[in-house]
Amino acid sequence: MKGMLKPDSFKDKTILITGGGTGLGRSMGKYILQLGGNLVITSRKKEVIDKTASELMHETGGKVLAVPADLRKYEEIESVIKNAEEKFGRLDGVLNNAAGNFISPTERLSHRAFDIVVDIVLRGTYYTTLAVGKNWISKKQSGIFLNIVTTYAWTGSGYVVPSACGKAGVLALTRSLAVEWAKYNIRSNAIAPGPFPTEGAWSRLLPGDLAQKFDPAERIPLKRVGDHQELANLAAYLLLDYSAYINGEVVTIDGGEWLRNGGEFSHLEMIPDAMWDMVEKMRGK
Ligand code: HXC
Ligand code: NAP
Repeated sequence: MKGMLKPDSFKDKTILITGGGTGLGRSMGKYILQLGGNLVITSRKKEVIDKTASELMHETGGKVLAVPADLRKYEEIESVIKNAEEKFGRLDGVLNNAAGNFISPTERLSHRAFDIVVDIVLRGTYYTTLAVGKNWISKKQSGIFLNIVTTYAWTGSGYVVPSACGKAGVLALTRSLAVEWAKYNIRSNAIAPGPFPTEGAWSRLLPGDLAQKFDPAERIPLKRVGDHQELANLAAYLLLDYSAYINGEVVTIDGGEWLRNGGEFSHLEMIPDAMWDMVEKMRGK
């Protein structure tokens, strides 16, 4: 899978990626660096983001600033912005990517377990958005928010209910501010990925031997999971002016997964050709 955009597409641009030290955040960040951008990455674990920053700088020759922060603490986000401005002058875009999640029957969750996921996903995203948005508006600066949600942000899903609640809130935030802050030239969009293998997601959503029991690719019409570069291509496009007229959109990248699993007759794919021949005969063809 190849990169899609011109090599200098992010020249002189600085993007903040929350949860940028691991998984999909790391992959999207790497592509932004390869396209000439600067990166600010943040998450709770300083050692993880420091290591990623030095690896990415080594691999791409780009500049990465790692600033630890717990996004549930507003003043820590303000500190990330301050550090980013000292190093790079300004932020041009924010990729709200950090999340927390695990599978559980809802009745087994403690209220603290519910809180922890909603707080990381929703509070973390609206705190980051509010802090950066106020900064851009006060400076009369344009900007772009790109928020990573999931397809169950609109369908809902059992067994990941706190995450579904949080992601639904992030989608509402995306659409609301797309309208309200357009007058400041601040766009807001979202991406809803289907399954893209990462250590963080797989260890929490397919723990133990669940990965062997439930192959996510089986639920997907294209019969495969996503490739990180496919997501990075889409994210880069949505963070740049190539997508300047896209505002308030959520782009699904899931190989057709959510539509297939909502389709009343999708299960008919299990019927072999020979049986369709019989069905045709029965109706007199
Ligand atoms: C039930 C659990 C639990 C589990 C933790 N808790 N794990 N309850 N099942 N698997 C409960 C704990 O008992 C505790 O409640 C409360 O949650 C807080 O747990 P801590 O371990 O103290 O929290 P913390 O150390 O802050 O860790 C947060 C975390 C952790 C969310 C639990 O998993 C994390 O750091 N995640 C960050 C990365 C992540 O989740 N990535 C995956 C994103 S994938 P009590 O009552 O005991 O105090 C994703 C994909 C979506 O979003 C779509 C896929 C297609
Ligand atoms: P991941 O590697 O676990 O990424 C989550 C990141 O969030 C981690 O780097 C984590 O770092 C950070 N984080 C968690 N709590 C935080 C907090 N309080 N403050 C700051 N940072 C915090 O998982 P991933 O699979 O790459 O997921 C990335 C995004 O894609 C998430 O929004 C997820 O919901 C979404 N997504 C993933 C998939 C998939 O199949 N992988 C599918 C749909 C959507 P620390 O622990 O260091 O804080």
